[in-house]
Amino acid sequence: MTDMNPDDSASFSRPDECRVTSLHLNLDVDFVSRTLCGFVDLAVKRMKDGVHNLILDAQMITIQKILDVDYGQELKFTLGENSAIFGSKLEVQLPVSASKCSHKIRVHYETSPQCPALQWLRPEQTLGKRHPYLFSQSQLRTKTNYMYGYCPHYRPFMPGAYFPVKIPQGIRSLTQQSIIGPRSKVWTEREMIEEAAYEFSETEKTLQIAESLMGPYIWGQYDVLVLPPIFPFGGMENPCLTYVTPTLIAGDKSLVDILAHEICHSWTGNLVTNKNWEHFWLNEGHTEFIERKVTGRLHNSKTLPQFMAAGKAVELKEIIEEVLKNGPYTRMIPDLKGVDPNDAFCIVPYEKGFTLLFYLETLLGGPEVFEKFLRAYVENFKQQSIDSNQWKDFLYSYFHDKTEVLDSVEWEKWFYGQGMPPVMPKYDDSFAVPCKLLCQRWSTSADNDLDQFDPSDLTSMAPLQVVECLGLLVEDPPLSLIKIQKMNELYKLNVTKNSEFKFRWLRLCIKAQWKESIPRVLDFINEQGRMRLVRTLYRDLCGWEDARPTAIDNFKKQRGEMHHILETMLSSDLKLG
Ligand code: BES
Ligand code: ZN
Repeated sequence: MTDMNPDDSASFSRPDECRVTSLHLNLDVDFVSRTLCGFVDLAVKRMKDGVHNLILDAQMITIQKILDVDYGQELKFTLGENSAIFGSKLEVQLPVSASKCSHKIRVHYETSPQCPALQWLRPEQTLGKRHPYLFSQSQLRTKTNYMYGYCPHYRPFMPGAYFPVKIPQGIRSLTQQSIIGPRSKVWTEREMIEEAAYEFSETEKTLQIAESLMGPYIWGQYDVLVLPPIFPFGGMENPCLTYVTPTLIAGDKSLVDILAHEICHSWTGNLVTNKNWEHFWLNEGHTEFIERKVTGRLHNSKTLPQFMAAGKAVELKEIIEEVLKNGPYTRMIPDLKGVDPNDAFCIVPYEKGFTLLFYLETLLGGPEVFEKFLRAYVENFKQQSIDSNQWKDFLYSYFHDKTEVLDSVEWEKWFYGQGMPPVMPKYDDSFAVPCKLLCQRWSTSADNDLDQFDPSDLTSMAPLQVVECLGLLVEDPPLSLIKIQKMNELYKLNVTKNSEFKFRWLRLCIKAQWKESIPRVLDFINEQGRMRLVRTLYRDLCGWEDARPTAIDNFKKQRGEMHHILETMLSSDLKLG
């Protein structure tokens, strides 16, 4: 589209000309009509002389009127045609008299039930099953000056605490809160509050480790909201209030590395952020890199980060080669012109980004040197949206005495090359060795020689090692049914509470074409809505002739219950339109 922001092909907005500097929402929530209705006050700042219009992105909202707050007069506006991917362009004519510095406007509007930023749940879709529920999610839609019916990236919706207006009691009572640290509460439905508080009780410790690496946490409060299972991601770094899926609650804190990841976004993502979604690796690659350092420190281990990275490198290879077929979305910086960023979303910016940073760290003198760079990077670009070239220029200026080393990096290949990264580091494998051994034993042993296995094979390992083992087995040729059944008998994988174990276990069952596992796979697919888990399992099911019709049938039955992002992605994966 010709009208898009030259710096962000997913947005109409022109923050270089005129931008929103703050907002206050005042909205009524109507669960019956599934609408938000009210107004938002925007402080608007002109960035250039001769600019008289403010451009915002909007999608599926009706605008009643727009007022000049100081003078009360109505302002003219146009709302462009709706495009399914990018929404519509909202152009507001500012009064000519408006000064360059700051101007307040009030937009009266109403959302529609189909607003893609909002997810309305029936009571049955919650744990308590008594109250309806509403949450917002819209990262990867447009980023700046966005007016999806609320401001997505900068204001969490659900808990009243951050709302500039009072939330009526009925809405607030849906989420209970429990204090888990001096600056942290966990919010969730009453039924889950204790488990959640236990699972995330290391939040303060994690924050402190992250601060020791990256500098002070500037956002004040750091809370966690555990959403209903329909939430399509592992976590989402809404400032001051991370959203997480309930599938992180394993009962033993074994999946909290995702929380560490979201915490690290407080620096890379929320303090320095990507200019547009092509440079998403700046957010996610840095965050993965810092997250692994933080998790390593949390467990007092120097090699844990490399173990975590090695496991993901296996996954990266599978996705790049088997799923994306070395195509255009395997670039670290993809070309997203005219493309829905959700279509391109995958593990690549995370893991190629991580790999580049790890490679550079080794090249430039190790963690001590490189961690200082990371901190300086955030300090230098804080409160800015940047692209990869700005990052690279800063890297060169910071390491100005090492330009020769930097010139040896194949930048073009790292940034724009398709397929696997140009260099794959050799990661420390001390944690991985027992996993590889166990995996090999399962793969190579004869069906009549399974007495060598024992429940302690897995119980003696750390949860991340179990994940690794199962992950390695998924990449190997399918196991025989006899082995799969023995494995289940010994390791009780059908009843595990750990969603990452279960996910890999079910993949193994599908690969082994164990028919009885199909209903269990469908149950898991239907009881939670994490994109990564659900899309992969559908893909696996569809690769098995006998299961494909059942999978498609299940999707058709369930699609009305899904988060719309997941539904869209699945219908394209399954080619159902
Ligand atoms: N910001 C992402 C979640 C996200 C990505 C939302 C793209 C919408 C579009 C979040 O920080 C994240 O990366 N979550 C991961 C977990 C992480 C540990 C890799 C997830 O949800 O799987
Ligand atoms: Zn992330």
